[in-house]
Amino acid sequence: MLLLNPSIFFSFLITSIILNQIPTSSADNVQQYKKCSSSFDCANLKNLSYPFWGPSRPQYCGHPSFQLQCNDEFASITIMSQSYRILEVIDSDHRLKVVRTDYWNNVCPTNLKNTSLGFNFFDYGSDTRNLTLYYDCPYTQFPIPDSYSPQFNCSINGIQMVNYFMLESVLENGEGLVSLSETMGTCKSRVMIPILDSEAERVVTNSSVENLKDVIDNGFEVEWSANNSLCHECQSSGGHCGYDQSSKDFTCFCKDGSFPHSCRSGEHHSRFHCCVFCIQ
Ligand SMILES: *[C@@H]1O[C@H](CO)[C@@H](O)[C@H](O)[C@H]1NC(C)=O
Ligand SMILES: *[C@@H]1O[C@H](CO)[C@@H](O)[C@H](O)[C@H]1NC(C)=O
Ligand SMILES: *[C@@H]1O[C@H](CO)[C@@H](O)[C@H](O)[C@H]1NC(C)=O
Ligand SMILES: *[C@@H]1O[C@H](CO)[C@@H](O)[C@H](O)[C@H]1NC(C)=O
Ligand SMILES: *[C@@H]1O[C@H](CO)[C@@H](O)[C@H](O)[C@H]1NC(C)=O
Ligand SMILES: *[C@@H]1O[C@H](CO)[C@@H](O)[C@H](O)[C@H]1NC(C)=O
Repeated sequence: MLLLNPSIFFSFLITSIILNQIPTSSADNVQQYKKCSSSFDCANLKNLSYPFWGPSRPQYCGHPSFQLQCNDEFASITIMSQSYRILEVIDSDHRLKVVRTDYWNNVCPTNLKNTSLGFNFFDYGSDTRNLTLYYDCPYTQFPIPDSYSPQFNCSINGIQMVNYFMLESVLENGEGLVSLSETMGTCKSRVMIPILDSEAERVVTNSSVENLKDVIDNGFEVEWSANNSLCHECQSSGGHCGYDQSSKDFTCFCKDGSFPHSCRSGEHHSRFHCCVFCIQ
């Protein structure tokens, strides 16, 4: 072909090198594309990318609701004003394994608050069970199986409390738990803590406080949605996912600018042809 001719090949090479360095769009776009192309690490987590961002990655490379704090042993994320430690990120199916920061190795936090994901960007994974912690209850001697005593004590703000914990399904289906469920009805507050379904059995077979803490510390799964399918489309077209502050929506950073969901295909080709013709 034409390219076999050494002088044409040489000038083509020069031209394409030059062309590759000419920003075809604003310098900002090139900068954003570059910045968002590399992954980042955050505390215990490695190789993170969209929708996450944090100290070492600008906000436009992620989604606003997915800011990470990286200064502790574990990365954390804030969902509905509540902090969660992130134990694991499973990128391929948009899942996180998290634990409430206030419940980390602690079943007596000073502020009793429910778990709430808000459901805009996060939802519970399918392997989730609700564990309910009942606080400030009347003391009950357990009549039911000797070893089963889902009770723990706290001293919160100087107040001694007797507390119980129960899996929702156990309370609904359990036989012989009527008196216990009556007791729980009179507790001052209750807090829902999601746990992994696969861990749930442990607090039923052995209701020690250590087991309770372990099961909570093993976290629960959250599925995220941050324009996941758009991001997939963007990545498949060679772009990097991000967020446009002015349109307040997803954007796809490409070599030659940013686009609503994927990089313009064929763009590279037409420029390639043009440059070959120019040389001729
Ligand atoms: C980092 O993540 C990307 C996708 O997000 C993946 O393709 C790549 O293999 C990962 N690298 C390592 C070292 O895990
Ligand atoms: C948590 O939610 C349950 C059920 O919706 C509610 O009964 C309870 O009062 C809430 N607890 C707190 C501390 O807000
Ligand atoms: C757990 O409780 C929350 C809040 O009440 C609810 O949205 C969620 O669907 C429950 N999860 C399960 C597995 O029952
Ligand atoms: C909690 O405190 C009560 C008395 O206030 C005590 O009888 C009970 O054994 C304690 N339970 C646990 C699990 O320590
Ligand atoms: C329950 O688990 C605790 C440790 O979490 C252990 O010390 C205790 O012996 C166990 N009890 C039974 C009945 O297995
Ligand atoms: C991205 O997701 C948000 C929230 O789910 C939605 O409002 C928005 O329309 C999506 N963007 C596009 C371009 O579909």
